[in-house]
Amino acid sequence: MSKTSPASADKSRAPRLEVPRAVLFDAYGTLFDVYSVGLLAEQLFPGHGQALSVLWRDKQIEYTRLVTTSNHGAHYQPFWELTRAALVYAIKRIVVPAPSSTLSTAFDSQIERLMNQYRHLSAFPENRQVLTELKARGIPTGILSNGDAAMLNLAVKSAGLDGLLDHVISVDPIRKYKTHPDAYALGEQATGLAARQMLFVSSNAWDALAATWYGYRTLWVNRYQLPFEELGTQPTRSGSNLRDVLSFFPTSSP
Ligand code: LAC
Repeated sequence: MSKTSPASADKSRAPRLEVPRAVLFDAYGTLFDVYSVGLLAEQLFPGHGQALSVLWRDKQIEYTRLVTTSNHGAHYQPFWELTRAALVYAIKRIVVPAPSSTLSTAFDSQIERLMNQYRHLSAFPENRQVLTELKARGIPTGILSNGDAAMLNLAVKSAGLDGLLDHVISVDPIRKYKTHPDAYALGEQATGLAARQMLFVSSNAWDALAATWYGYRTLWVNRYQLPFEELGTQPTRSGSNLRDVLSFFPTSSP
């Protein structure tokens, strides 16, 4: 694609940016494996671990949309609180058989253990190496997440990603969850770059779609061989794990 031209000495102007100038990652599901709680859920609620962890995640995301789109955000709660509410819902729905059951305090310790596990989610194994390679290339990186700052900082630390991310951006200060455009705008504000100059990486198809709509170049990390959203827009690229981020960058420096 590159043309050899004497005018190419004008390095300061880059009218069409080929290589992203920063990479922003979604956190939950992308850097941190949200389904890793399934193992503990299975131990605590035998036979229900998988279903519980899937419903927990789905309900958590549903709640983010509910509080962002309803009543001008009056019902906003931080992601940690929504995560707990979603867990209680999932236990009531899947574990407790009676339809109108109230959750007895008998489940308090299980809820605490699962929430604690959520605080210390596993990172996907290739993450550290990818972040290290980006750092070696001088590419600024960050998280842009629905998670609140305390959750994100702890997750980064427990996953051993300390020092590998330049920005940890939470939507909490603006009290609007992705996919609200103000949430994606936080990435531009933090980096000083336009969305089109950056790569946004998410394993959540809805997040990759909305970031594409917003104007980011996007990588959808399709870890579970799922179909993409059927709404007429595709991410810039799809991949199967975080290593595919590196495909946006030249293999050797010019
Ligand atoms: C996040 C959720 C959506 O980290 O995965 O923003």
